Amino acid sequence: MNEIKGRVINVSNRLPVLIRRHASGTRLERSSGGLATALEAGWRDQPGVWIGWAGATPDESIEPLLVRAARRRSYTLRSVALTEEDIAKFYSGFANEIIWPLFHDMPSRCNFDPEYWATYQNVNRKFAAVVAETAQEDDFVWVHDYHLMLTAASLRQAGVRANMGFFLHIPFPSPDIFEKLPWKQPILKALLEFDVIGFQGDRDRSNFVSCLERLLPEVAVERGTPHLLVGLAGRRSVVGTFPIGIDFEAFEHDAERPEIAAHAAEIRKRVADDVLVLGVDRLDYTKGIPERLKSFRLLLRRFPEMRGHITLVQVVVPSREEIPNYKHLRREVELLVSQINGEFTEPGWVPVHYIHRNLGREELLAYYRAADIGLVTPLKDGMNLVAKEFCAAQIDERGVLIVSEFAGAGPELRSGAIIVNPNDFSQVAQALYDAAHMTAEEKRSRMRLLRQIVKDHNVHRWIRSFLQAVPSSDQVKGGSGSASWSELDGATVGPSIASSFGSVVRVDQKMPGVALLASALTPRTRPRYAMGKDAKLHVLRSAAGED
Ligand code: ADP
Ligand code: F6P
Repeated sequence: MNEIKGRVINVSNRLPVLIRRHASGTRLERSSGGLATALEAGWRDQPGVWIGWAGATPDESIEPLLVRAARRRSYTLRSVALTEEDIAKFYSGFANEIIWPLFHDMPSRCNFDPEYWATYQNVNRKFAAVVAETAQEDDFVWVHDYHLMLTAASLRQAGVRANMGFFLHIPFPSPDIFEKLPWKQPILKALLEFDVIGFQGDRDRSNFVSCLERLLPEVAVERGTPHLLVGLAGRRSVVGTFPIGIDFEAFEHDAERPEIAAHAAEIRKRVADDVLVLGVDRLDYTKGIPERLKSFRLLLRRFPEMRGHITLVQVVVPSREEIPNYKHLRREVELLVSQINGEFTEPGWVPVHYIHRNLGREELLAYYRAADIGLVTPLKDGMNLVAKEFCAAQIDERGVLIVSEFAGAGPELRSGAIIVNPNDFSQVAQALYDAAHMTAEEKRSRMRLLRQIVKDHNVHRWIRSFLQAVPSSDQVKGGSGSASWSELDGATVGPSIASSFGSVVRVDQKMPGVALLASALTPRTRPRYAMGKDAKLHVLRSAAGED
């Protein structure tokens, strides 16, 4: 590991605050989404710089507002100016109409407009320019999420020498999905300009490596523990899994406050003795909200005795409202809510309470504390912090978590949660029924387990483990000297090496200094070639070592 001597410069599309213009003036709001919540909590007392977009086109009001916002923080905020066209084609277009649906396994929702790609490259250069102005050689530049996959490549071209890392907060798709992207190779190559590349789960990391193997066969993959090393054109990157967490202590502590307890009691009073089921999401089609509502409707149809005794509170924060898919989703969700309420409402009982607004932290915590069941059923999700926040706020250990197997939180929390397939409405309805009838003792033991996992895998551990994976510069630059990379002197290549690797080795006499080695050849593996300097032989393991 390379000790970071300078500052950490976080770079993400959004800053933790956003500037909202209203008829009455301009004001600052908290950015929504997991990235902002996690990084803001994890970085609270750390020095450094956070570079991002302030959520509005630039004018003279932005800088003073950001300076004011930075006064309450230990790091400074620097904004990247985006034009209306950038916002439309980079943010709404490339990021949210191509990468977002594709990486969430929904290619039919993609709009592969070639103009989006040009603007994506351009805006990544804009971010890189601000980073280049800010970063010094000892700093570590940590780039977050799919909006900024090309930033390291631009920074390297500009001669920036700082170490750079990238963390993908959303899933990484399988090769069959990823290869639909017209710009797949340049994106993969640009990612390999980062020194560390991090994913939420092992499945994401292994999808990424499979994409490299399929689409960039010249890449070498060294399987190490706990991380992989990936090499291309004389550079190496560490590729690892770093599941994100929350600030457990802060959620727990705040949930214990008497005002929150009083607010939670107020919410409970409104639903009387009903089982309170809670959904909290950005209004996004990946979150499976229509599917969740249909599952709840099935529960009420299949178990008539539950009518009048169970209430779903669905809280949604408006999101990406300018994108057509999101406009349709809002209409679909609101229609379903009114259909369910129309079908089942009785005097004194409304089955679905629908809240369409950004809740303040206190109100959100009160709902988490008041709920009997946390229903987190995304169709696909990088992690899903709502699942973890619900557990942290469950200080009475009364609640049951139902979580989708397709969220990163699913595998991580499976020992205490009820795991469901969100497309299986019948299974989700049954899970709700079972959770509603679970004994207090079972609920407590499951919730205790969940809270321990969320506490251990918190946001501070996420940051620490990512920064610990930053390699020293001789580990990332090509050439000899790296203990973790297999390199043999070409001069010694011979049958003994061939047999010790169980491989086919050939030194090309017409091309001195180039040795070809095909390791672990099977019908499915191709020979891999390495151009070695000074007659060095790079031993390139079969990337699909498990063949
Ligand atoms: P994503 O990053 O895709 O939005 P996550 O579940 O990881 O999904 O993170 C969502 C974050 O947004 C959580 O920290 C959650 O508390 C917050 N959030 C979601 N809905 C609301 C809401 N209606 N009001 C306030 N915060 C919300
Ligand atoms: O956590 C995933 C994420 O996509 C973040 O990158 C993003 O900031 C957030 O969800 C909310 O989306 P948006 O920034 O488009 O409002």
